[in-house]
Amino acid sequence: MRTVMECMRDGIDEEIIGCAGEILRRGGLVAFPTETVYGLGANALDEKAAAKIYGAKGRPSDNPLIVHIADWDAIEKIAVDIPVEAKLLADAFWPGPLTMVLKKSDAVPLTTTGGLSTVAVRMPGHEVARALIRAGGGYIAAPSANTSGRPSPTKAVHVAEDMDGVIDMIIDGGDAEIGLESTIVDLTGDVPMILRPGYISQRMLSGVLGSVETDRALISDDSNIKPKAPGMKYRHYAPKADLFIIEGSERKVREKINMLVAEQMDAGRIVGVIGTDESFGCYHGGVIKSIGSRADEITIAQHLYSILREFDEMDVSAIYSESFDTPQMGQAIMNRLIKAAGHQIITV
Ligand code: TXA
Ligand code: MG
Repeated sequence: MRTVMECMRDGIDEEIIGCAGEILRRGGLVAFPTETVYGLGANALDEKAAAKIYGAKGRPSDNPLIVHIADWDAIEKIAVDIPVEAKLLADAFWPGPLTMVLKKSDAVPLTTTGGLSTVAVRMPGHEVARALIRAGGGYIAAPSANTSGRPSPTKAVHVAEDMDGVIDMIIDGGDAEIGLESTIVDLTGDVPMILRPGYISQRMLSGVLGSVETDRALISDDSNIKPKAPGMKYRHYAPKADLFIIEGSERKVREKINMLVAEQMDAGRIVGVIGTDESFGCYHGGVIKSIGSRADEITIAQHLYSILREFDEMDVSAIYSESFDTPQMGQAIMNRLIKAAGHQIITV
């Protein structure tokens, strides 16, 4: 299959959107930008189209897809018994990086929801995404546009690395603004529950809803506790190199990383370091990359996946990373980083 690459970095191009919408309405696959990560879109209400997503990604069929909408009223076709909390959250955070799990209607095929009786719904903030959703019929299933097991794409070139020749079109809308997948909150239980942390923090959700809980599996080291979002149970992504997170006071972390790097280099190995704009100059060896600034935590979220992809292209045997427990996005950043590190944390 030939994959068409279209650029749409400066606002909506109606002609391209019309063409991409047509592909979606005919059951094809289009990757598109969102404010979190790039999505791999298909018509969510067309079982065959949704099934193609699993094939293109190599994704297990029990891992449900998020249905993307562009207008609040669209929700009534795909969800039933919509609680008042959903409207409150939509008013506060949509369009934006929040996904809500609701009871599904019969209009949504079980292929889309991985066999579940619930449906995850999100209205993305990126205007190209919303224009495409409308052009494509209003209901677009879109997981992150990576091959299963690779970091989510935050740039169109990442999508091309994984999906060129496999899907119909890629729309390049520039770098993803947030860089980590949306927060998922489940509204089908007694208390709203966060199934995946993201830019919209527990505190922001509590500000609107009062009490909000976090799925225990996300904060526990016990791997026997199954996460409630099926996708969170997969070790999303393991870098080719061994990744270690070094935690502790700023000075000790820098000393420890320098020591580990020196040891490895003495043994003739090439290693990587993930630091920040603030610490970058303090490291003495290895391939040193700055993930962003601690003064602007969104830059850290934005660069995490692309740095991991960059290290995969290089022949490093180990990567040592600082810990990024920043105030708002720290939980989301560390959730993804700890998974990538397979829980290898060195405390100093
Ligand atoms: O930011 C995002 O949400 C991106 C962009 C493209 O919108 N999409 C995304 O999709 O991250 P994906 O497929 O990579 O992750 C979806 C997650 C998975 O962990 C899945 O198990 C969970 O959402 N999920 C989907 N439907 C669910 C449901 N009904 N109940 C519980 N978890 C669900
Ligand atoms: Mg994903």
